[in-house]
Amino acid sequence: MGSPIIAPSILSADFGKLHEALVALEEAKADWIHVDVMDGHFVPNLTIGPPVVKALRPSTKLPFDVHLMIEKPELSLEQYAKAGADRISVHAEACPHLHRTLSQIRELGCKGGVALNPSTPASIVENILHLADTVVVMTVNPGFGGQAYISEMKDKIRIIRQRANDLGLTDLRIEVDGGISPTTVAEVAQAGADTFVAGSAIFKSDDFAATIADMKAKASA
Ligand code: DX5
Ligand code: ZN
Repeated sequence: MGSPIIAPSILSADFGKLHEALVALEEAKADWIHVDVMDGHFVPNLTIGPPVVKALRPSTKLPFDVHLMIEKPELSLEQYAKAGADRISVHAEACPHLHRTLSQIRELGCKGGVALNPSTPASIVENILHLADTVVVMTVNPGFGGQAYISEMKDKIRIIRQRANDLGLTDLRIEVDGGISPTTVAEVAQAGADTFVAGSAIFKSDDFAATIADMKAKASA
């Protein structure tokens, strides 16, 4: 388990002012920038693609944590890597060949992640955990920001952290995504999560830096 990472999601930013959002988040000491890519098929919402990721790349030095909520993600991994993604997560539900897809992400020089919808069991990553740098446990059904946190996902986090420990995968990051806020961060951290995506909790706050610091402190407690 690593030290806590806070990854604000720009899904909750004003899409007309993404550059300003990235500058503000870096100043507020965010660790990573979480970029939600949606295709209108895998999830019922459509956001941004590689050209926008590329256009945003010069706006910050922070790593881009790209969350692909798209069908057939294996077809566009290279485009996201070239656009400046540092970390790429694909959904297990969209990937019949997860073993191959995770290997491809690493071959492109990125860190690879597997995201799991709330209804997807932890067992789906059991045999490929050594190929993952991150498991993203969705704590909402993906598609929209601002949804309510599903607390039952704590059990899934515990199972994955235990499996990682059994395999000696001490560097595996367990990232939680959806409804994470200063109120919910402590319980997912206690279950074994060390990486925290937050969209609305940060963008609705008056003070990004204070909210990020508060979440980090609560995750470490
Ligand atoms: C949901 C996205 C999340 C979303 C989180 O489909 O994957 O990253 O932006 O937003 P909040 O923190 O508002 O739930
Ligand atoms: Zn996300």
